[in-house]
Amino acid sequence: MSDPEESTPGGIEAAQPRRPDDSARRYTILVVDDEAAILESLELTLEDDYRVLCAGTGAEGLEILEREDVALIIADQVMPVMTGVEFLERAIERNPRAIRMMLTGYADIGSLVRAINEGRIYRYIPKPWEPEELRLNVKRALEAYELTHENAELAAALSDANERLSRENLYLRREVERRYSFDQLLGEGPAMQRVFELLEKVAQTDATVLIAGETGTGKDLAARAIHYAGSRAKARFLAQNCGALPETLLESELFGHKRGAFTGAHADKKGLFEVCDSGTIFLDEVGEMTPGMQVRLLRVLQDSEVRPLGSADTRKVDVRIMAATNRDLRKEVAEGRFREDLYYRLRVVEITLPPLRERREDIPLLAQHFLDVANQRIGRELKGFTQAAMERLVAHSWGGNVRELENELERVVALAGERDTVSADMLSDEIRGQTEAAAAIGAPPVDWHLSRSVDALKAHMILAALRETGSKSQAAQRLGIPRQSLQKMMKRLGLSDADVEPENSD
Ligand SMILES: Nc1ncnc2c1ncn2[C@@H]1O[C@H](COP(=O)(O)OP(=O)(O)OP(=O)(O)O)[C@@H](O)[C@H]1O
Ligand SMILES: [Mg+2]
Repeated sequence: MSDPEESTPGGIEAAQPRRPDDSARRYTILVVDDEAAILESLELTLEDDYRVLCAGTGAEGLEILEREDVALIIADQVMPVMTGVEFLERAIERNPRAIRMMLTGYADIGSLVRAINEGRIYRYIPKPWEPEELRLNVKRALEAYELTHENAELAAALSDANERLSRENLYLRREVERRYSFDQLLGEGPAMQRVFELLEKVAQTDATVLIAGETGTGKDLAARAIHYAGSRAKARFLAQNCGALPETLLESELFGHKRGAFTGAHADKKGLFEVCDSGTIFLDEVGEMTPGMQVRLLRVLQDSEVRPLGSADTRKVDVRIMAATNRDLRKEVAEGRFREDLYYRLRVVEITLPPLRERREDIPLLAQHFLDVANQRIGRELKGFTQAAMERLVAHSWGGNVRELENELERVVALAGERDTVSADMLSDEIRGQTEAAAAIGAPPVDWHLSRSVDALKAHMILAALRETGSKSQAAQRLGIPRQSLQKMMKRLGLSDADVEPENSD
């Protein structure tokens, strides 16, 4: 009994039909030779196992390379017009991954070396060749091709994974740095005390929270505080600025996408809602969302499921949603820019952070805190503020709120040199120079809220009178009001005698 796998003795190839193997035939081989007979015989040797394309000149070969996905190129060395070496060199530009082999009729060592060096040739085949040997060589070459192909894919996958890991690390590091508790949110005055009470209450629930407030009032900080004080604290807190990305990218960032959903979507991607699993998503600048995104977000809030871009399936998600805005969303709703139904879904609980100018009583505490932080960071030892400096900090309108105060102190400390106390001359021009009185008389007021501006002006005048006269009775006299009224006014405005510059008071 003969083994069916064994080849027929005598090696009569034609008598044994070769079974075209579909897995091998997926490879395309390009053969280039100016002699038709050689092309034909190469084709005959290889066509059962591979798809063979023939070219009679280098130029024709290059043309084929432009449009075909070729795995292996076999070129004759000696051809008129474009030599084999020249052709293979140019082939590299068109298809760098294809394996290159050279047919050589005679062993001219010099041109062979050049061919191997410059054409970066995998192997050369001497003419005439043994069909079996040629097949074996081609098979090996294609195994090498397959390997480099796999390697390239693995390398791409690896670099993808690395990138994801480093992003993950960055995220973790940032979160560790930012693990906030309520005591990172400072505020002694009644306005912030009310905010703290509310934050504590909502932290114990899973309600959707809308945090409103001007820029720099601490919305971010408040959202993190709620997350880390609540039952989802062990899961992630992921923030996404909704104003930072065009619609499609924001949608893909939040809900994910299927490969090919849009140009540049090379692979499936999970959205933040899925990644966040049982954590909190913080949608910053939610007022910037386009109408289309508003509809999609509404669906998530209603059904707790997301549908990745380009996908037909939805996925359940378990995520707490918080949103922030520095726009007046109610007004946006009234003016038709923000969906009313979404607004009500988002503001199950609404927390408004008051602007700093409405809680000036917190300024000394915040200023001292940011001074300490900046001292630490920059390596200085500034101890505190002169009364005049603090007075100006308290009187400033702080359009950028707490962030502006923080930046101001960072700047002051950085430029402090050898000074050990912050005095008024170290403050920025607009803080040092701007008095509410000047604003009231000259330029339009920074803050159009009348009673607020009047209060600021009163505080400024009272402190100036106290500093100049050195006593409350004289200050009251100068201001043209009874001493008791001055005292009441100071109490209401949160001013104390200590607010007067020591060198000017007695
Ligand atoms: N009550 C506070 N106590 C201490 N630091 C605060 C307080 N509020 C804000 N900050 C600090 O001020 C800066 C701005 O705060 P945050 O980023 O939370 O403001 P925001 O309201 O989110 O601003 P934006 O609208 O510009 O995004 C941060 O560095 C934050 O640590
Ligand atoms: Mg913010």
